[in-house]
Amino acid sequence: MSDTLLLVEDEELLRNELQRHLARQGWDVLAAVTLADAERILGNEGASPLVVLCDMTLPDGNALDLLERTRARSHLRAEWIVLTGYGSVADSVRALKLGAFEFLEKPCPTERLELVIAGAARSARAQRRVAETAARNHERFGADAFVGKSPAAEGVREALTRLAGVRVEALLVGGETGVGKGLVARILHYVGPRAQGPLVEVNCAALPSELLESELFGHEAGAFTGAKGRHRGYLEQAQGGTVFLDEIGELQSSLQAKLLKAVEDRRFRRVGGEREIEVDVQFFAASNSEVEMLVAEGRLREDLFHRLALFRIDVPPLRERLEDIEPLVQRFVAEFNARSGKSVRVIPDIVWERLRAYSWPGNVRELRNVIERSVLLSEGTVLPERWLQLQAGTGTAATDAGGSGQRAVVGNGRNEVVFVLDGSESLDDLEERILRRALELSGGNVSAAARSLGITRQTLRYRIEKYGLDPGEG
Ligand SMILES: Nc1ncnc2c1ncn2[C@@H]1O[C@H](COP(=O)(O)OP(=O)(O)OP(=O)(O)O)[C@@H](O)[C@H]1O
Ligand SMILES: [Mg+2]
Repeated sequence: MSDTLLLVEDEELLRNELQRHLARQGWDVLAAVTLADAERILGNEGASPLVVLCDMTLPDGNALDLLERTRARSHLRAEWIVLTGYGSVADSVRALKLGAFEFLEKPCPTERLELVIAGAARSARAQRRVAETAARNHERFGADAFVGKSPAAEGVREALTRLAGVRVEALLVGGETGVGKGLVARILHYVGPRAQGPLVEVNCAALPSELLESELFGHEAGAFTGAKGRHRGYLEQAQGGTVFLDEIGELQSSLQAKLLKAVEDRRFRRVGGEREIEVDVQFFAASNSEVEMLVAEGRLREDLFHRLALFRIDVPPLRERLEDIEPLVQRFVAEFNARSGKSVRVIPDIVWERLRAYSWPGNVRELRNVIERSVLLSEGTVLPERWLQLQAGTGTAATDAGGSGQRAVVGNGRNEVVFVLDGSESLDDLEERILRRALELSGGNVSAAARSLGITRQTLRYRIEKYGLDPGEG
């Protein structure tokens, strides 16, 4: 199915020419001559154009008034391109303030018009995708989605319920990897007043900082080599909703400063842009390193930390709330039964014992994976013990739960690091040893070593400096 573009132009010759040209480009073009026409088309639920290409001055009024009226109806996620014969600065400022994608003066070269339309279409599609996900998830998430009967889990649910009624402008979620920080952020978005708006998740560790800046804040055409058209960043895409910044400690310091300003003033500039863009979003952030330590180490700016930690939820590791294992296992068994058509109903005592004895370095995510594997490989109604595989090194950290419980192994085979948990080595010593080993195995290649450790290059660099290691010495 082709995408729809609404063309509003009163000059007949130009309208016909544009209509033909756009149809040849594959657009399903709806044409309107007046604002009243256009409004009727936009009011029709079925139409829902991706892009509106609109003349500024029309026989029955100014296009910007129509733009303003339709902005209020948020289901119309279309990008507007406004064309004008007599470009006045005041109008162009108003157009962009109202969120128009671009303001073009007539006559506009075809190539440029095509480029701008393509950019607008991309942007509108991205916004629709997030909006659809928001609508789907709204039903699914409530505070009860955070399963657990420990006082800690109850505390998290209570906090979520209390915060649901408040306009939370900023929130910091702390806790080790896999404890459920992402889940907390999603629940809070979907129980809060911005549930109908988009939730945009950004993993700060996943992108190099140059890219991250333009992904977060967007960029203008020509802001840097390769920046062909205007791009709306995550902050703009989250308009009316939530930006969730995961692994906030990985954000480079200069970006932290820019982010702080955006959080404080709800405005920012696109890369290469002059104009300030206003956004109405709430900021959630998460980190799996202890945030106080990030601040102490200078990796998280103190001012940004205080701003984000306006509200704070810390989720303790699973090993400190073993009573949550039971309800979590019940939940995951039901989930994977439903997904795979299995009918596991019985969980033998030995399985419970093994699950409680394990230390869960990967926390709830690891538990979920273990249950998924066991349910998928089950043959009857009993959850098999065989597939728990809790001590064999599976590549992630695993603590020997049997025997003395004093020896831990990270990795397997050639990639193994073994250490004795008798207090003779500090955590820092162990970390240093792991880093040395990883660098040794990668032949001093920092990127490869970072990959093998599951951390970013930046983080590894930081640690190499901290321990005064020489990547090449391995
Ligand atoms: N209390 C809980 N109840 C139900 N499911 C949970 C709970 N905690 C975590 N999960 C599930 O465990 C998995 C891991 O959780 P999540 O992704 O939220 O962890 P995280 O803390 O964000 O991890 P990371 O630090 O790696 O980003 C998800 O599938 C999540 O839905
Ligand atoms: Mg997460």
